[in-house]
Amino acid sequence: MSTSDKCFVIAVDGPSGSGKGTLSRMLASHFGFHLLDSGALYRLTAVAARHHGVALDDVETLQVLAAHLDVQFVAGSGGDEARIILEGEEVTNAIRTESVSSDASVVASLGPVRTALLARQRDFAQPPGLIADGRDMGTVVFPDAPLKIYLDASAEERASRRYKQLISKGLGASLDDILNDIKTRDSRDMNRAVAPLKPASDAVVLDSTSMAIEAVFKAVLDEARHKGLH
Ligand code: DC
Repeated sequence: MSTSDKCFVIAVDGPSGSGKGTLSRMLASHFGFHLLDSGALYRLTAVAARHHGVALDDVETLQVLAAHLDVQFVAGSGGDEARIILEGEEVTNAIRTESVSSDASVVASLGPVRTALLARQRDFAQPPGLIADGRDMGTVVFPDAPLKIYLDASAEERASRRYKQLISKGLGASLDDILNDIKTRDSRDMNRAVAPLKPASDAVVLDSTSMAIEAVFKAVLDEARHKGLH
């Protein structure tokens, strides 16, 4: 039996800032499904590497770290983000910094690290269903998922969203720097040899550049209904 036979999996892939994190939380809350934030696992591996003084080119040790991540996800309620505990320490906010984003993108380009995280990601597929948020959910981790969404948006729009988010938190930010970082990470994520970011051949591709998240959510609910999920 394949993983997705055990429960209904909706794969939600796309670049950072496309709105897939928000969309995934809305879907998980709506359907009462589990939620996999697979990007968090790459971020946690990057943070664990820092904690243990492991260099980002030490692939062998990074693979061991990824395979043995001591992490707990404490589910949020009503669409809130889960709290994340790494080795007994809360890292919910610490894994979201720009420098961890950059390290996570490097770590995520390493095949052995991706392989080490595969089983852990598939373990999230539990009844009644799973919303799997990432880059390779539909292509590699859950290739049999009955519904695959690829959510895109222009790099400029994604940078602008990130900029507003940082400013609203009272954090200083440069729109140019954010846009450059986004383009660098996109290029690394899309051009890496293993599991590059791309839509699965059977994915529904949505562009959220000029769509409100509620409209994206509604479009996905329509797709889910077509697949028999109510
Ligand atoms: O979605 P995010 O920004 O939290 O992801 C962090 C990094 O991990 C980003 O560079 C993309 C990468 N990633 C990946 O390669 N595969 C996934 N399934 C999820 C994230």
